[in-house]
Amino acid sequence: MPASVAVPDFLYGTAWKEDRTPALTELALRAGFRGIDTANQRRHYFEAGVGQGLAAAYRAGVLTRGDVFLQTKFTYQNGQDHRLPYDPSADVATQVAQSMQSSLEHLGTDHVDSYVLHGPASGYGWTNDDAEAWAAMVKERDAGRTRLLGVSNVSLRHLEQMALAGGELPHFVQNRCFARLGWDRDVRSFCVERNIVYQGFSLLTANPDVLRHRFVTGIAARSTATPAQVVFRFAQAIGILPLTGTSDAAHMQQDLASHGLSLSPDEIAAIESVAG
Ligand SMILES: NC(=O)c1ccc[n+]([C@@H]2O[C@H](COP(=O)([O-])OP(=O)(O)OC[C@H]3O[C@@H](n4cnc5c(N)ncnc54)[C@H](OP(=O)(O)O)[C@@H]3O)[C@@H](O)[C@H]2O)c1
Repeated sequence: MPASVAVPDFLYGTAWKEDRTPALTELALRAGFRGIDTANQRRHYFEAGVGQGLAAAYRAGVLTRGDVFLQTKFTYQNGQDHRLPYDPSADVATQVAQSMQSSLEHLGTDHVDSYVLHGPASGYGWTNDDAEAWAAMVKERDAGRTRLLGVSNVSLRHLEQMALAGGELPHFVQNRCFARLGWDRDVRSFCVERNIVYQGFSLLTANPDVLRHRFVTGIAARSTATPAQVVFRFAQAIGILPLTGTSDAAHMQQDLASHGLSLSPDEIAAIESVAG
């Protein structure tokens, strides 16, 4: 069995970095990130570049494989471009196994820490394809190629149908987090009830009005922090494991340092309902 690794309180996201992926992954590790999120979806991620960044950090003695939480994803063909990590004519279960094998090669490891279904096959509900992909992911986990499993881009309906289907529930849900939806309140409540860790992305980009809101800018000014840090700290305070994909070294430091900000229960409650 793979050695266990703690789930860190911030994940560094590697989407949309193309040729800068190796250097930015290494920089994030040097800055102190101990969780890396990627996907075997060449359209938005350069997973092999993440592996190069990890290898450079290992070589430089920044950390070892056992110190870092690695998360990647299986992406259906409709979320990919022509650069597929599997045979498109194979069944879904075979595609999952091939995608995982390719991820392990890209990342230079024999296991990841979390393997995530990038998005269900349909926006309307949990389909047979999803059940097949999920069963294949469970097999990968049982074979030791991932420690934990997750799903991404899911609605409450997806999760309820998944639960009704009687299969295993995910350890992680990774969703875009809109303040106007109470920061994905319904899905987060489901996660709390089932002990699922909710990972939130686009916390800044989906919520520009919150970053400009005078309540948030006021807290930031009082704390000698930035509005972005207030949002990240708030997210952690309500149980969200945040992702950041910053390409900026100073923002990397600030994002990690946001953990040290203190927000009162009233401030947390106010930000939670600031937009929805
Ligand atoms: N599951 C999915 O379908 C899915 C979808 C989207 C994203 N993700 C994951 O989530 C990760 C994060 O993506 P994201 O959508 O949250 O967007 P992002 O790529 O993290 O973009 C965040 C934006 O906020 C800025 N930023 C970050 N920290 C800041 C700070 N302290 N102060 C000011 N600006 C700051 C960044 O600019 P600078 O670069 O200048 O700092 C960037 O423009 C991705 O890399 C990916 O791993 C997953």
